[in-house]
Amino acid sequence: MGSVISLQGKTAIVTGASSGIGRGVAMELVRYGVNVVMLARRGDRLEEIVRELEKDSEASGVAVPMVVDVTDEKALVAAFDQTLERFSYLDILINAAGLGRAGSLMEGVTTEWIEVFNVNILALAVATREAIKRFAFDRPGHIIHLSSMSGHRVPRKGAFYAATKFAVRAMAEALRCELRDAGDPTRISCISPGFVSTEFFGNYFRGDQEKVDQLKESARRMLEVDDIVAAAMHVLTAPAHVEINDVLLRSNEQLS
Ligand SMILES: NC(=O)c1ccc[n+]([C@@H]2O[C@H](COP(=O)([O-])OP(=O)(O)OC[C@H]3O[C@@H](n4cnc5c(N)ncnc54)[C@H](OP(=O)(O)O)[C@@H]3O)[C@@H](O)[C@H]2O)c1
Repeated sequence: MGSVISLQGKTAIVTGASSGIGRGVAMELVRYGVNVVMLARRGDRLEEIVRELEKDSEASGVAVPMVVDVTDEKALVAAFDQTLERFSYLDILINAAGLGRAGSLMEGVTTEWIEVFNVNILALAVATREAIKRFAFDRPGHIIHLSSMSGHRVPRKGAFYAATKFAVRAMAEALRCELRDAGDPTRISCISPGFVSTEFFGNYFRGDQEKVDQLKESARRMLEVDDIVAAAMHVLTAPAHVEINDVLLRSNEQLS
């Protein structure tokens, strides 16, 4: 049996670290002794996480907040450079920044499609490319994309969001092939949750709390951020020869 990977002393970049799944994974990584560069637009949220971790006796890694809009390619690339300058190595990328907007294809709003496309696909592709360039040959890297159940089936009025998550899955599989062809041991994984209780649905329904509440009721029970964090830690600590390609998880009460 291969031994599980130790994360102590590694360096990670987490996009979308200010909230929800990215926040949870970033904080857990710091507790595992990882130095984590946290990217998001809301700096106040990132500073709050730093303060929370300072009070956490289990948090042995360093948390570095960086205010970056991931759709700003120059700023995103600069964040990767600054991470290398500060920690010398990059070992892990968690692509958690993402959003959706409910709506049909027949009546969709182009500006919303562009926003979702730019974050969910373009920024994820840029971050992935920049991470791979910087992983050291003798320290195989690991990338996790936050994909979705919507990358496996298409929910009604969620087609554009689902299309971006199908694209994430396609890019993960294509990258896996490219890496193997190049003899590069970098591992690429997707985590594909069903409904998770985060701020995601506030954005999805453009702040319409009634629709959020309706969805919560129909979903019966959602997964919690900690459920996704546990999946991410399982993926990251798997023995070096094990590449977990996709973790598809739903609450046992989710109907669709
Ligand atoms: N919640 C679910 O049910 C669910 C299910 C399946 C998959 N997912 C996926 O999981 C990932 C995380 O979602 P979540 O549920 O944790 O949602 P969330 O709580 O709304 O978090 C989204 C994160 O993305 C960041 N973000 C969005 N646009 C950004 C931009 N332009 N630049 C930088 N950061 C940006 C936000 O930060 P700022 O606003 O501070 O920039 C925030 O930290 C997403 O990819 C989502 O598609 C979620």
